Amino acid sequence: MNLDEILKDAEREFAIAGNLPVLDQVKARYIGKSGAITEQMKGLAALPVDQRKTMGARINQIKDQVEALLKARREAIQAEELGRQLAAESLDVTLPGRGVGVGGLHPVSRTLARIEQLFASIGFVVADGPEIETDFYNFTALNIPDNHPARAMHDTFYLDGGALLRTHTSPVQVHYMQNKQPPLRIIAPGRVYRVDSDATHSPMFHQVEGLWVDEQVSFADLKGVVQDFLQRFFEREELRVRFRPSFFPFTEPSAEIDMSWGEASENRWLEIGGCGMVHPNVFGHVGIDPERYQGFAFGMGVERLAMLRYGVDDLRLFFENDVRFLKQFA
Ligand code: DAH
Repeated sequence: MNLDEILKDAEREFAIAGNLPVLDQVKARYIGKSGAITEQMKGLAALPVDQRKTMGARINQIKDQVEALLKARREAIQAEELGRQLAAESLDVTLPGRGVGVGGLHPVSRTLARIEQLFASIGFVVADGPEIETDFYNFTALNIPDNHPARAMHDTFYLDGGALLRTHTSPVQVHYMQNKQPPLRIIAPGRVYRVDSDATHSPMFHQVEGLWVDEQVSFADLKGVVQDFLQRFFEREELRVRFRPSFFPFTEPSAEIDMSWGEASENRWLEIGGCGMVHPNVFGHVGIDPERYQGFAFGMGVERLAMLRYGVDDLRLFFENDVRFLKQFA
């Protein structure tokens, strides 16, 4: 092939190469180790001496031209690629902004805050306790000895090494009474755990525990405090509360708390929690003299209260964190 043809072919092939890797392959065909121009150089040796010089100069000239073409094409490809990249990453600063959504408190948090505020207004302080408990605090100290059938009522998550996830907030009563002498007036809101999951049960949910211990605390005080709380929580003075005899190992007597719901004519009652007078055995476990002190305790389901207050019919909505649901409480 003559040198002019080589130059023309190179020019044509460089122009077609669309990207740098392809361009490098084309380059190899002309000025690579066995490229067309390199071959021409090698061929010089076979020429008569007098022709070598002119031919050599000519090949070098063509080689320079090929290299110049290559350089120009390389720069053109780089410029194209940069242009494409800039176009892809371009930012239209004239577009309207997406807007910053204002966050809000989760409905369960709002409910907890409301409960705390209402109890604080009648002198209760908020107490706290661990969610990982021992058998002693969750059961034994609450007068639920080993092998007591009441243990089976709690579908407990047990952890390696014998610890467990508390099944109710009642153990906070025990922690608190171990460290303080009466008079005591606390509520203990927090997470509790049970092996249970459907539309009305979640493996994790919230309870609020209440405890009032003093020298003259009666069941009448319990009824008054619970009724007053529920009326204020739901902002319904006509709300009625019913105490239905029941059993809890840690209280005696014990009752289930029901409240009226809907129109009076409907006569609907909803269970909202449990309560009773602190069992002397519980006082015994924490070193409070049951001859001198009495107390009442109660435990209520926080999600239950939130569902009723906000008209939510599926407990799971509280834990799926779907913003379309949560937004409605902002
Ligand atoms: N701990 C009970 C439960 O989870 C609720 C309860 C009942 C709490 C009676 C109390 C109480 O403090 O006195 O089912």
